[in-house]
Amino acid sequence: MGKTSQLPGFYKLSPEDRLKVVKEFAGLTDEEMEILRSTGPLKLEQANRMIENVIGTTGVPLGIAVNFFINGKDYLIPMAIEEPSVVAAASNAARMARVKGGFRTSSTEPVMIGQIQLTGVKNPSKAKDAIISKKEKIIEIANEQDPMLVKLGGGTKGLEVRVLDTSSGSMVIVHLLVDTRDAMGANVINTMVEAVAPFIERVTGGKVYLRIVSNLADLRLARADAIFAKEALEGEEVVDGIIEAYEFAAADPYRCTTHNKGIMNGIVAIALATGNDTRALEAGAHSFAAMNGRYKPLTTWKKTPEGDLLGRIELPMAVGIIGGTTAVHPVAKICLKILGVKTARELGEVMAAVGLAQNLAALRAMVTDGIQRGHMKLHARNIAVMAGAKGELIDEVAERLVRERKIRVDRAKEILQELK
Ligand code: MEV
Repeated sequence: MGKTSQLPGFYKLSPEDRLKVVKEFAGLTDEEMEILRSTGPLKLEQANRMIENVIGTTGVPLGIAVNFFINGKDYLIPMAIEEPSVVAAASNAARMARVKGGFRTSSTEPVMIGQIQLTGVKNPSKAKDAIISKKEKIIEIANEQDPMLVKLGGGTKGLEVRVLDTSSGSMVIVHLLVDTRDAMGANVINTMVEAVAPFIERVTGGKVYLRIVSNLADLRLARADAIFAKEALEGEEVVDGIIEAYEFAAADPYRCTTHNKGIMNGIVAIALATGNDTRALEAGAHSFAAMNGRYKPLTTWKKTPEGDLLGRIELPMAVGIIGGTTAVHPVAKICLKILGVKTARELGEVMAAVGLAQNLAALRAMVTDGIQRGHMKLHARNIAVMAGAKGELIDEVAERLVRERKIRVDRAKEILQELK
């Protein structure tokens, strides 16, 4: 019998029994089974309640970026990421920002959009008017779903209706505008849009299909800016270089995608550390960047009259500090404590500042030494370990690899032999 991935009832098994099935399928060794069983801080029972078909957990390094001074307050930034240099880069940029007072941030109210797709109405603009005339009632039904949120000052605050022309005819799209306070909000919004859909069908005689949050959270924006003194950047030439690099991104989507990727390195690392939805943030950021029809950098950089560098960032920030994974993942809870943020808005603003710092660090590295130098050291250590180096030999082999600019396992093995 060949191997099959059709496993009816797999979901009903315990994690241990699932693991045995996977062992059989993939030929895992006892040692590999032990690695999967030793789950670290997120216990198997907790993981088993978070997603389906759990067999284990996986670890990502958790680092702390230092030096962040935001709105006059010091922060330590937990970042969960597998990529070398990101944490060091953020810390370096934050150190440079301190010279001119650190980061200043702001944000809009935490309002997210829930969408309802109404189809099959004969007269879309009449349907639109009918929905608008029942606005108060729709908001009331939505808010009945979460009295606690309403009590905290959140809830559905508004409603918008658009007629959308599509290849299969006109649709009426209703947006609920929901203030989700300190929650990311996808859950509460999905509950609300599902709750109001039957009423909207009754009022219009149409058929509702989708009822779902929009990840283009363009009403929930976080902003940060900072001045980087030319002395901190080691000269006005570096300032000019960074502006040229920024203009490159502003004019070219191939470069701009990487520019924005670097920003998201920082933002997503905090999201992962704090149990936030990294995919929602990525989707929102990139679509926000393309909102005016052209894909744009999420940051802007310009020179001040004094010759320093002024950077700004603005992007959607659908993050929460309560509910969801933030509430159940033990490490996420500790990361939020390390950050010391009191509201989801504060978390979002800190994340925006880190995104700006990350971008500055990447641009500065690229217009000066190039990005590889920073990467090399950690990469070389990994290669040394792969070649079999242990203890003090790891650093010795890594240093030789960097010096020779040959970060390769075969060379590491040779060096290891010599040293031994
Ligand atoms: C690498 O993860 C991120 C960078 O490519 C960002 C950039 O090019 O701006 C260095």
